Parts: sequence; structure tokens; C-alpha cells
Amino acid sequence: MKDAEGVQLLQWCLPKLRMRWPGFRKVRRQVYKRIDRRLKELDLSDVASYRSYLERHQDEWPVLDALCRISISRCYRDKGVFQYLEREVLPQLAQRAAAKGENDVRCWSIGCASGEEPYTLAILWTLGVAPQFPAVSLRILGTDSDPKAIERAERACYPGSSIKDLPADLLAKAFIPSSDRFCVSAEYRALVTFREQDIRVTAPTDLFHLILCRNLAFTYFDDGLQRETLNTIEGKLHPGGALVIGSLESLPDGVSEFDPWLQKLGVYRKSWESGSP
Ligand SMILES: C[S@@+](CC[C@H](N)C(=O)[O-])C[C@H]1O[C@@H](n2cnc3c(N)ncnc32)[C@H](O)[C@@H]1O
Repeated sequence: MKDAEGVQLLQWCLPKLRMRWPGFRKVRRQVYKRIDRRLKELDLSDVASYRSYLERHQDEWPVLDALCRISISRCYRDKGVFQYLEREVLPQLAQRAAAKGENDVRCWSIGCASGEEPYTLAILWTLGVAPQFPAVSLRILGTDSDPKAIERAERACYPGSSIKDLPADLLAKAFIPSSDRFCVSAEYRALVTFREQDIRVTAPTDLFHLILCRNLAFTYFDDGLQRETLNTIEGKLHPGGALVIGSLESLPDGVSEFDPWLQKLGVYRKSWESGSP
């Protein structure tokens, strides 16, 4: 499809999906390709006919919603964030857990894609943090609305492009080469569980000490949906717990329940004053 047609279509349909056009500007061509494939499946000749098809078929909207799911991720993506988590955030959370006599730190990765983010955390914890806190363990839940991403996450084997940012020593210790892939060793996989879940609809029942919601809600969702997502996150985070958003993202204006922990990296702390949910 031509760029002008694509922009027009996205600017028309994204608000109806409670998403925002600026988030899609850079990745729009990825969405065009998927929509082009969908036009072929439906035997439609152009973008205008897809738009009228959407107007006549309510059941096409969830299909379009799935086509707008951006799946880019990598292990150790934004290394400064992971270094900070390893150096500051995880030790503080572990220290607090140990001081309270608790035996685990619980983490939720929202929009975990194929598991790159949760496994990175598991590796950094095991190799960098756990030796200082032998009585505390890390449990990580990864959720994503894309069932195929969850299947890949459970397989835990990645092409070279997904692990290219990882320091060589971490790669050597935590991955087993297997034909053209690199598979996460069982020791790290044991810390992580995955669940297919749409953050707009449902959330885990547990409470967490660390929640990552990077390159999803605060890029693609519209303002109202961002606020709803943030409410969900707040309700699932212990007071003093950490929230990590993408380093190029920001929280909606006027949010008072979170204090900057290291704002330039997108790291926030849920206010201590918030009551325990
Ligand atoms: C751009 S990736 C970000 C992955 C990872 N958080 C990162 O920063 O590298 C966004 C992920 O969010 C997932 N996603 C999109 N909409 C979602 C929703 N409503 N609920 C849960 N996950 C969603 C996509 O399937 C995709 O895997």
C-alpha cells in the first residue's frame, strides 16, 4: 500500500482501537505489510475497500487489533536499564525482602514478547544479584496477548539477532547453542513462567515488587487506555515497588502515584504512601 493511504487508514482506525498514531509512525510499514496480506486473504483490492469492510464487519476489528501488535524485542534491550536493574533496583528489592523475612522478589513483565526481557532478568539475577542474597529467590511472570509469542517464549530458543546485545560472558554462561539458535539454559528458565494475557482485559491475581511495561502501553495505547493500564499496574505493585517503562516513553501527565527512581531510564517507584493494595 502507498504510504499516504496507510497513514490515512491508521489515523482513522487506531483511535477506534484505543491506540495512538504517533506510536506507530516509525513501525507503520510493519503494519502495512500485515494489512496487505490481510487484503489478499479477503480478496480486497485496496485500502478503501478494507475500510468499508471494517465498517460492515464488526468481527474484523479484533483481527486488525492483532495486526497492530508490534513484536520487536531483544535480550538486554536498552542495556543501561538492565545494568541499573542489576546494580540498584534488584539488590534493593532483595534487601527489603530479606529484611522482612520474605523469601522471594516477584516480577511481572507485561508484553513480554518471546521472553527476551524476562530471561534477561533471570540471567542478571542469577549471575549478578542472587549470590549476595542466598535466601531470596526471583520469580518472574511474563504475559503477552500474542499466543505465538508465548509459545516462542516457552521454547526459549533465539536467533542471533535476538541475543546480539548480550555481553559475551552472559551469552556463554546462560545459553546453549543449538543449530542456528541459542537456547536459554534450564537454570534460568526455571525462574520464569508465561501466560497469554491481554493487559487491557485482565491481570494476574498476585502482587509484585517489580513490573516492567516497556514499549507497549506508553507507546501504542491512547491516553485513556494508558491511564487505565497504569491503574492496573498500581494495583498490582507493592508500595515502594519498581515500575520500568521504555526509556523513550513517559507516564501520562499528572500521575502522582509514582515517584521517579531514575526517570531518564524510565524507572519509577510506587509511592510509599500508597496503601498496600
Ligand atoms: C514492542 S514489544 C515489546 C517487548 C518488550 N517489552 C520489550 O520492550 O522489548 C510489545 C509486546 O506487547 C505485546 N502486546 C501488544 N498488545 C498487548 C496487550 N494488549 N496485552 C499484552 N501484551 C500486548 C505484543 O504482542 C508484543 O509482544
